Amino acid sequence: MTENTTELTIIQPDDWHIHLRDGAALATTVPHAAASFNRVICMPNLVPPVKNVNEAQAYRERILQSLQLSSVDAERKSAFDPRMTLYMTDHTTVKDIEMAAASGIVQAVKLYPAGATTNSADGVTDINACVEVFEALEKYNLPLLLHGEVTHDHVDIFDREKRFLDDVLAQIIIKFPTLKIVMEHITTSDAADFVLAQSNQVAATITPQHLLFNRNHLLLGGIKPHFYCLPILKRESHQKVLLDVATSGNPKFFLGTDSAPHATHAKESACGCAGCYSAAIALPLYATAFDSVGKIDKLEGFTSRFGAQFYGLPVNESTITLVNSPMQVPSSFDYFDNHSLTPLMADQTLPWSIKA
Ligand code: DOR
Ligand code: ZN
Repeated sequence: MTENTTELTIIQPDDWHIHLRDGAALATTVPHAAASFNRVICMPNLVPPVKNVNEAQAYRERILQSLQLSSVDAERKSAFDPRMTLYMTDHTTVKDIEMAAASGIVQAVKLYPAGATTNSADGVTDINACVEVFEALEKYNLPLLLHGEVTHDHVDIFDREKRFLDDVLAQIIIKFPTLKIVMEHITTSDAADFVLAQSNQVAATITPQHLLFNRNHLLLGGIKPHFYCLPILKRESHQKVLLDVATSGNPKFFLGTDSAPHATHAKESACGCAGCYSAAIALPLYATAFDSVGKIDKLEGFTSRFGAQFYGLPVNESTITLVNSPMQVPSSFDYFDNHSLTPLMADQTLPWSIKA
């Protein structure tokens, strides 16, 4: 370590939005997540999706089994706590919600408008038909996590989040004013302003890619498939507002990486998959984003306090130390079936790293 190095010790973070996938993928994704995070909210968009408590319990056990088989150290193994979500469909029942609330392992219910993103074909087709389920979520204080984009063919991909706020979310909030809602992975100033204008029941997660990049990074000088995720990166003015709110110390905004593994070949394709893989380097990425606007002092609230506060959970007792000593992001990770997994910012140097 050089004498100019700054260390930053923060409460151990949690990731309130992650995709770990299933089966052999877990051997890569789980150790990466467990190295940095204690609690992770595991997205349910498997094939087939995780629709009820039994499926969530079985998925959680597969995640923990994979953790036990990994080389993650004993302390991280015991700290890692996958919190589960149910995938809401047109057939989700009040009973499903009651059982989820009683389960102790289901942290929230995820709503994908059908067709909005990866593995969302079984998502909700008519939000107006979900009244009883929303009432049950409200009753049991179980948060509703939203992929907040409309899916109509005629709505431009860059406008889909704003249209969701105006046409869908505003109505949900009027009808269910005490429902806890997280607008996941917000990408626009419209979403930031919308969340700011609501009660403390409404919060948002923000990914590292939406803080560090904008659509120029995706499209200028050639299409960069590893920057392609949904909701898609927006223009720079939106990125700036996201950085403003993330670093503002407002507890409505907290960490959710949306780390979403897709094998390198499936992204570098004529029809590439949506998702940025960031789990292994998420903390250096967020530190880099916060430091870029002189707000590294606001990192801990965003990574380690506000999400727990929103979910009514204690903050973690352990800590992790970041250091502004550069790291090189690996060009790829091994992934199952002899595939590889290319992380966000592969081969690039980040100014912050996790202290060994
Ligand atoms: O980019 C994304 N990838 N956005 C999502 O909403 C889903 C995710 C995935 O599951 O790969
Ligand atoms: Zn996601």
